[in-house]
Amino acid sequence: MKPNATSEVESLSKIPITKPAFDQAEVDAIQEVLRSGWVVQGPQVAQFEQMMAEFTSSRFAIATTSGTTALHLALSAAGIGPGDEVLLPSFTFIATANAVEYTGARPVFVDIDLDTFTIDPSLLEQALARRRSARCVVPVSLFGLCADMNAINAMAGEHNLTVIEDAACGLGAFRDGHHAGTEALAGCFSFHPRKAVTTGEGGMVITDNAQLADKIVKMRDHGASQTDLERHLSEGGSLLPNYDMLGYNYRMTDIQGALGAVQMGKVQTVLDQRRDAAIRYDQLLKDTSFLRLLHAPEGMVHAYQSYVCLFGADQIDFGVAEPPNWELVAHLNRDRNRMMARLEAEGIAVRQGTHAVHTLGYYRNKYEIAPQDYPNSYISDRLSITLPLYAGMAEKTQKRVVDALQRLHK
Ligand SMILES: Cc1ncc(COP(=O)(O)O)c(C=O)c1O
Repeated sequence: MKPNATSEVESLSKIPITKPAFDQAEVDAIQEVLRSGWVVQGPQVAQFEQMMAEFTSSRFAIATTSGTTALHLALSAAGIGPGDEVLLPSFTFIATANAVEYTGARPVFVDIDLDTFTIDPSLLEQALARRRSARCVVPVSLFGLCADMNAINAMAGEHNLTVIEDAACGLGAFRDGHHAGTEALAGCFSFHPRKAVTTGEGGMVITDNAQLADKIVKMRDHGASQTDLERHLSEGGSLLPNYDMLGYNYRMTDIQGALGAVQMGKVQTVLDQRRDAAIRYDQLLKDTSFLRLLHAPEGMVHAYQSYVCLFGADQIDFGVAEPPNWELVAHLNRDRNRMMARLEAEGIAVRQGTHAVHTLGYYRNKYEIAPQDYPNSYISDRLSITLPLYAGMAEKTQKRVVDALQRLHK
């Protein structure tokens, strides 16, 4: 159905939080898969995996149905399960903690550093001193910035911990030349449409460990000793494979694989354009005193999966060690929410950065955690704001966002 003229004008004036970089090439690739008749995990997924392995300089890349299932597989294949404790940041998307819960292990939250929104290594060290059952740590490269993997790996070595990185937002992020996800036993990516490269839903595990890769390949396919494609290409393809382990159906379809492969073909352009837009925001917002902007520490390449600021910088000295003024945080939270509602009413999509997982009902009730137990995560939950960002975003569109922010903040 053709949209009427009014709704076309309205939708043109709306600024989305992000949008996928699709063009005719994606449409053609999907049609090609449909015409081939092979739509489940097959050659297109294999091609997408190879492109991810090359882009991240990893030995193995294994596609899954989502970032969440990538995390679940990596943790399970690494042997994490009941009786284990897994340390993770308290400011992240809920899926990081949920994946730990699926294994039967207990998630243990650690607060973040407000300068980077990633797990604070000094607090991780304190947590490790108290936690004797800690088996694993899951740092998150949040919003496209790697965690301090140097410090985390040093502690992991000392405490004999497995490191699985949640690199859901990390495509295009580097730390000292290492791509996100490559400084851990495994790195887990998401291809949800909020990410720079999308397959609708989709995920990927990368690893250099052949044994782990082999286990993950089987576990994503019910534990089968042979994939469907291998079976079809081999003699005796009418016999079903063996199943020696418990597995899941976490297979990506070839429709998504084809989409992913086309997206990976232009990944550098997409990342460069997103970074250009982020740098333009830095310039446009540099004198906006009520926002604290994100900066990448030395040696980090920020991928800008999201452009996230902290609201209230003119009234709170973020990152100062003294106890936060919670009344002021509550007051600023109301102001932030009002400003976000006004921006939405003007057609400018904004979001809180992500959530403090320990404050969400399931975790709060199960583990009896108070919001202020992880103060930086709680502050980030209450005061963060994500601005619209996508490849090819025009400067005049960004100026409209910045003008509206400055006009509507009081
Ligand atoms: C930090 C983080 N972890 C995990 C996930 C889960 O990825 P998916 O939505 O593909 O399951 C996301 C997705 O938004 C995320 O941002």
